[in-house]
Amino acid sequence: MKNNPETKTVQITVAGKPMEAREGQTIVHALWQAGMASEVMTGCLGGVCGACTVSVRYPDGRKGGTELACLHQVEEGMQVFPFPVDPIPTKPPVKEPDAAKLREAYPTLDRCTKCESCTYACPMDIPVMDSVLRMQKGEVEQVAQDFTTCIHCGLCRAVCEDKVEPHQMGMWVRRSLGQSLPNMTPQEEPEGEAEREWGYLMEGTLEQRLERARQFRTQESLNSLEDSKE
Ligand code: SF4
Ligand code: SF4
Ligand code: FES
Repeated sequence: MKNNPETKTVQITVAGKPMEAREGQTIVHALWQAGMASEVMTGCLGGVCGACTVSVRYPDGRKGGTELACLHQVEEGMQVFPFPVDPIPTKPPVKEPDAAKLREAYPTLDRCTKCESCTYACPMDIPVMDSVLRMQKGEVEQVAQDFTTCIHCGLCRAVCEDKVEPHQMGMWVRRSLGQSLPNMTPQEEPEGEAEREWGYLMEGTLEQRLERARQFRTQESLNSLEDSKE
């Protein structure tokens, strides 16, 4: 790696392999720069897809833990362990979900020993264990709220020694509640409507198309576009 003399470098290990990284880089960017991209899976690079799960340890004895490698910055002496989480099949959602239906779909629900590891592991700060306890009581609306920001990274499942699978149950609750909403029958689109709309958007000169595209923007974003031209 070529370094600007001003740039501070740090030494870390990834899956036991030593490598040099630039201070302030994320683990993912450091791996890319070192030609070791395949050590950690990636997707969105923005903390959204949950693909880049790792656990980290620090040399000074600070508590490490589970992290998303696309967001977490390297530090001197950090040890990084890729944490691939195998996909597991989801259970089909049902209408009007309650505790009994959830138990039927996920008999693992009552295995929870309240160790709280899942809550500590969650990179999205979801109160996972509390939500598992709400699931046991059938408080499905609150559970759906709890899991709104779940990125399905699977870290809560990976650290759960009792194989409770909280994230799968959270997703099941959300999908089941969604399926229970009234008037969810998809409306038939009038024949040829999508093609007509697409044709309209693609008609005319570039200027005309840009002008039409403006209707999909907010005034604020149009103003900032104008400002950027000045
Ligand atoms: S890690 Fe598993 S056993 Fe521990 S609190 Fe979470 S769901 Fe319960
Ligand atoms: S609840 Fe589990 S799967 Fe969802 S973001 Fe937290 S750790 Fe990841
Ligand atoms: S790459 Fe998507 S969360 Fe990190």
